[in-house]
Amino acid sequence: MDETLDQLRAAALAELDAADGEQAVEAVRVKYLGRAGSISALSEGMKSLGKEDKPRIGKLLNEVRAQVTAAIDARKAALQEARDSAAVAGLDTTLPGVPVLRGALHPMTLLLDRAVAIFRRMGFALADGPDIEDEWHCFDALNTPADHPARNEQDTFYLPDGRLLRTQTSTIQVRTMAAQRPPVRIIGPGAAYRRDEIDATHLSQFTQMEGLYVDEGVTLADLKGTVEFFFRELLGPNAEVRFRPHFFPFTEPSFEIDIKAPALGGDRWLELAGCGMVDPAVFESINQRRGDNAYDPETVSGWAFGFGLERLAMIISSVPDIRYFIENDLRFLEQFR
Ligand code: DAH
Repeated sequence: MDETLDQLRAAALAELDAADGEQAVEAVRVKYLGRAGSISALSEGMKSLGKEDKPRIGKLLNEVRAQVTAAIDARKAALQEARDSAAVAGLDTTLPGVPVLRGALHPMTLLLDRAVAIFRRMGFALADGPDIEDEWHCFDALNTPADHPARNEQDTFYLPDGRLLRTQTSTIQVRTMAAQRPPVRIIGPGAAYRRDEIDATHLSQFTQMEGLYVDEGVTLADLKGTVEFFFRELLGPNAEVRFRPHFFPFTEPSFEIDIKAPALGGDRWLELAGCGMVDPAVFESINQRRGDNAYDPETVSGWAFGFGLERLAMIISSVPDIRYFIENDLRFLEQFR
């Protein structure tokens, strides 16, 4: 038995030496170590050995198996290495690599994300509504009479079926109040559409952010505080806010909000938003649609605002032409990483 084992070992190692590829090595492994291989067969034969031979032969058998296994592993590793170096032969690792293009957020997205984060910290929830609207949500519910110029086809994109592309995100106020009872504290960012002549400062689709706060005892002072906090968070502590009396059909009183801030280039007042106390007529329309008196003007009050975001983004990011925002020119977009 000892001799047989010695012979087996010598034969296996010799065959391995002669093996010229992975398949040949594998064949040697199967021949000697496989389930029906000769070393395995000898292990079976151990059972019939006498007590005095068993430990010695067992030890030798283990040795031979370990040796052959190690030789096979070493041979396989050597073959693998040869294959790897053949694969990279002639490869110049000093050549410049292929650049991986990294995406970036659009400057409007960057501004919107910041604006939303500030309002969320003040407890405002995100709300939205569809871009395709009906006249009721866009105008009637907002106390905008049928002969109001905004309803004119010159300003509004009408669909053949009478629906329209919302001209303002104020529709989101209406949808939110129609769907939930006060207290309501929401912001509603989104697209708005108007038939504007397209030029360096106008697009027919632009971005607004609506805000609405309705509860018992909500006052104009809350509005001023909120708006001031927002702009100081966004533009720095030196931002100044001015409320200028104005008219909107859906608020009374109404104001335009002007901002002056070093981040906006210094000492010019910029008109950035409209706002006001929600007109009781708006609450009445909502109640009528809801079929209850949840927005009783005797009990609740509220304020609303609407910001245009492109103008702000243009100034913050020094973008001279609003059309850059929608042209998908990588040379422009890559500047906002
Ligand atoms: N919807 C107005 C616009 O597009 C902006 C606005 C003004 C929104 C006053 C409001 C508001 O919610 O109260 O010009």
